[in-house]
Amino acid sequence: MILAAGTAAASAGLAGGLWWWQRGRPEAPLPPPEPPLPSDPAFPNALRVPGTDGMYGVLDAQAVTSIVARPVRYPLLNGSPAGMLAYEVEHRGRTLYNPTLRARTGGHVNLTFWNALDDPGIIHWHGFKVDSNNDGHPHYAVPGGATYEYQFGIPNRAGTYWYHPHPHGLSGEQIYRGMAGLFIVEDAEELALQRELDLRLGVTDIPLIVQDRRLDADGNPVFAPTGAERFHGYLGDQVLINHTPRPYLDVASRIFRFRLLNGSNSRIYRLVFRHGERLLDFAVIGTDGGLLERPHMVQEAFLSPAERLDVLLDLRYFRLGDVVSLASLPFDPMHQVAAHVPGPGNTHAQHAPRGHQDSAVTALEAPIPEGAEIELMRIRVSRRTIYGPRVPSHLSRFEPAPPEVPRPRVITLDQKNGVWRINGLTYVGHETPIVVKRDTIEIWEIRNLPPSMPHPFHIHGFLFQVTSRANSPEHVRRIAEPKSGLTVADRGWKDTVLVWPGETVRISIDFSHTYLGDQVYMVHCHNMEHEDGGMMLNLKVAA
Ligand code: C2O
Ligand code: CU
Ligand code: CU
Repeated sequence: MILAAGTAAASAGLAGGLWWWQRGRPEAPLPPPEPPLPSDPAFPNALRVPGTDGMYGVLDAQAVTSIVARPVRYPLLNGSPAGMLAYEVEHRGRTLYNPTLRARTGGHVNLTFWNALDDPGIIHWHGFKVDSNNDGHPHYAVPGGATYEYQFGIPNRAGTYWYHPHPHGLSGEQIYRGMAGLFIVEDAEELALQRELDLRLGVTDIPLIVQDRRLDADGNPVFAPTGAERFHGYLGDQVLINHTPRPYLDVASRIFRFRLLNGSNSRIYRLVFRHGERLLDFAVIGTDGGLLERPHMVQEAFLSPAERLDVLLDLRYFRLGDVVSLASLPFDPMHQVAAHVPGPGNTHAQHAPRGHQDSAVTALEAPIPEGAEIELMRIRVSRRTIYGPRVPSHLSRFEPAPPEVPRPRVITLDQKNGVWRINGLTYVGHETPIVVKRDTIEIWEIRNLPPSMPHPFHIHGFLFQVTSRANSPEHVRRIAEPKSGLTVADRGWKDTVLVWPGETVRISIDFSHTYLGDQVYMVHCHNMEHEDGGMMLNLKVAA
């Protein structure tokens, strides 16, 4: 079917002014715009893409000397400036918010974080293999008005990492109100891929930060979880991408790269690209810790909070005016604990948010239930190109997980009396319940004990590989590789892995690094309400 469409589209292209893409000339401009497509009332807003300034503007990380966390006025909805929080960077007369930082493997970061919020703040470089001093552990949070110095080299392989606040108990609110940005690391393999497929950040290589939000009538993000929402996670009534509500993206008929980050506090997405009723194949080329060895063709993938998915979407055989939707298909959210938890019910509609009595807040829409179908973005083919290169069959040199060691360390995820726990414990700042020996390889067996709900399990300071997934629910088994039980989102180097109720997931972690002395990192659930509620433990890597 796709081939038939391609033939038709190719001849349509010939008639409509064909643009030949010349291979090996990455500086070649995109083809001239065709007459603009009519505006779509359902998705009326052009996606915000990283440019040279403003929201998500691209900056060489080595050129950044200071980052300020502060309240800003920024138009989120209908052009009216909203009160949100952002990381602000001034650079050569330009102002950037939540800049998309970019650096090479081996590059250096040397900057001052200035916390211009009233509350404590600290930046965590999610996925970075840095020492504890630079990790943004909540222990290092500084009060409003204070600064923190970061100085580290970047040992990570190329990948789409991110940075976000990590003060204990407040991370969820600060991320929700606007603070989070991408940190893109590049190396020779990554640059080769960019050349091969003419991938240019913000043009044909598009980061998509997916975040559900509740905005009041003026577009201000409102973080006011009820007790039940602190337990389940705070869901929004709409989904923003790159802080754009109901976005569209006009594209040329060629290969596009999307770097997806689930930056939502708690919502899980079952991502698909859909043309009419037909699900499109897309190539997953990378996950949290960068490129896979080779592309994996799939039609859907789950993405839980903090996970990244690097995909190529091949639009070469589409016609002018074709619309492809990025959507989340329905799934069973498996919030099995609903019936077991004492206290308030589960829907926002039943409860006025605490501490926010103004009418704008109480007029909030009810959230979209987790697992409901959501159309996230419309991708509209507005230009024809004929573009030669196809997705390469080899992407990166990939060292497979170290061999299994005999005795896994068991990590349990459960809840008692409405409190989420790891190994039966909750966060205590001065306790380090997990101690591992530096330079050792461990297998962790993570068990999500039912009745439960899905937990995106995250480790600071190290990447790992998922080696097996067992006892998965049907909607996971259906898309899993039968022998290992792994889905595409488990491939490659990971820093966050989704564990569904009842599942047992094994990961292999190599705790070697170059930092002297004991280093204290952490493990936690990346459902932000779970994390802030204490589903988080210190992890000591003993020298
Ligand atoms: Cu993105 Cu401690 O987390
Ligand atoms: Cu992290
Ligand atoms: Cu959780």
